[in-house]
Amino acid sequence: MISFQLNGEDVSVDIPADTPLLWVIRDYFKLKGSKFGCGKGLCGACSMHLDGDSVRTCIHPVSAVSGKSVKTIEGLGSADNLHPLQQAWIDNNAPQCGYCQSGQLMSASALLAKNLSPSEEEIDNAMKGHICRCGTYPRIKKAITETAKALNSTASRPVGYYLPTENNVQEDKGESP
Ligand code: FES
Ligand code: FES
Repeated sequence: MISFQLNGEDVSVDIPADTPLLWVIRDYFKLKGSKFGCGKGLCGACSMHLDGDSVRTCIHPVSAVSGKSVKTIEGLGSADNLHPLQQAWIDNNAPQCGYCQSGQLMSASALLAKNLSPSEEEIDNAMKGHICRCGTYPRIKKAITETAKALNSTASRPVGYYLPTENNVQEDKGESP
């Protein structure tokens, strides 16, 4: 039995330890937002957060997440409560076919959770290896840049958004709209 947190809830699965996490999330938990692309860790379509870091789950055995926290695109935001990046994706018409976009959003959100003022190079590094056959790269980069700027302004920061500090992250207790 392998136990971990999935989108904030404690879960357990009785499944072969070498099963890739992506299979477990899609086929066992029926969360289909994360996609299978290459199966070799090369395209980023399957990316999720593991203890806050963006990882390629097609090459990550489920045994490696025991006792850890996994977040999928389904846990990033909801239709009623979009993550700021999801709103920026909409505002910038970032997706085209959409296949790569959940993975792109997971890496972008992992970046901004740790660094709210990323340089162009830091954005490129965080997003490198995410393949988009539709070529949406410029719109994705613009959405990330705009979101970082907006979140640096208290006035446009959502309630409870976690601001990076030098050592870790800290909940924003400031005023929100
Ligand atoms: S499907 Fe996992 S990196 Fe391509
Ligand atoms: S939006 Fe089509 S592959 Fe990226």
